[in-house]
Amino acid sequence: MDSGVTSDEDYWLAAALLEWQAELGADEALSETPVNRYELPPPEAAPAAPVAPPVARGAPELPPPLEAPDAVAIAEAAAAGAADLDGLRAAMADFEGCELKKGARNLVFSDGNPAARVMVIGEAPGRDEDAQGKPFVGRAGQLLDRMFGAIGMGRAEPGENALYITNILPWQPPGNRDPEPAEIAMMLPFVRRHVELVGPEVLVLMGNISCLALLGRKGITRLRGAWTEALGVPAMPMFHPAYLLRNPAAKREAWADLLEVQARLRHGG
Ligand code: URA
Repeated sequence: MDSGVTSDEDYWLAAALLEWQAELGADEALSETPVNRYELPPPEAAPAAPVAPPVARGAPELPPPLEAPDAVAIAEAAAAGAADLDGLRAAMADFEGCELKKGARNLVFSDGNPAARVMVIGEAPGRDEDAQGKPFVGRAGQLLDRMFGAIGMGRAEPGENALYITNILPWQPPGNRDPEPAEIAMMLPFVRRHVELVGPEVLVLMGNISCLALLGRKGITRLRGAWTEALGVPAMPMFHPAYLLRNPAAKREAWADLLEVQARLRHGG
């Protein structure tokens, strides 16, 4: 059989086949004489040739591979899409970027009255909070309730005396270890949106982790008792109630800080 180009039809068929092969990436012509590759010098002896990606003529260039979106970017998009607190809770429950979720029994979102003037932000749930799905319900939480009770405020109180409570992390870290910077960073978009949706007049930042996350600073002994601003809201850093349980002498300073909060609510900043 004659394999040459014998007619216009054969020519166009051959051209179409060639183009199709080029599109598939077969862009190298084979030589007339066969090459016995077993007789070629071993690779290390072969001269190094520059490696260029094969470019098929006529084939569209592929875009560079996309970077996987990081957890912070996913959290930001999810938090921004939450129109209200129920939406925010659902967005956090759906968030798969944080490994802590796998070891937690419950998402600990918040407790108290979202219409409260004061929003308390703690660190992360402990064992009791993980079991009940509510923040500050263990020993430290009971002390927190007594502290705010002393200025007439509480999570079950209505109106002016109401309190709203949440944490930087909604899942318990294993063994109650400190939250890691990456965990804080990926949950921060949810905290920001949380504060935006609640719109408190005052934030109370409980302890070092809360200060680190929202002020970018640690050192609660120096930070406590002085008004600052977090997320555009007046903020009072205070000793964490768990610290007060271990260091009862520091309750004096905590009491002074609570009176500061009370004075601001009564007379403004
Ligand atoms: N400590 C916190 O910071 N938050 C809680 O919910 C419980 C203990």
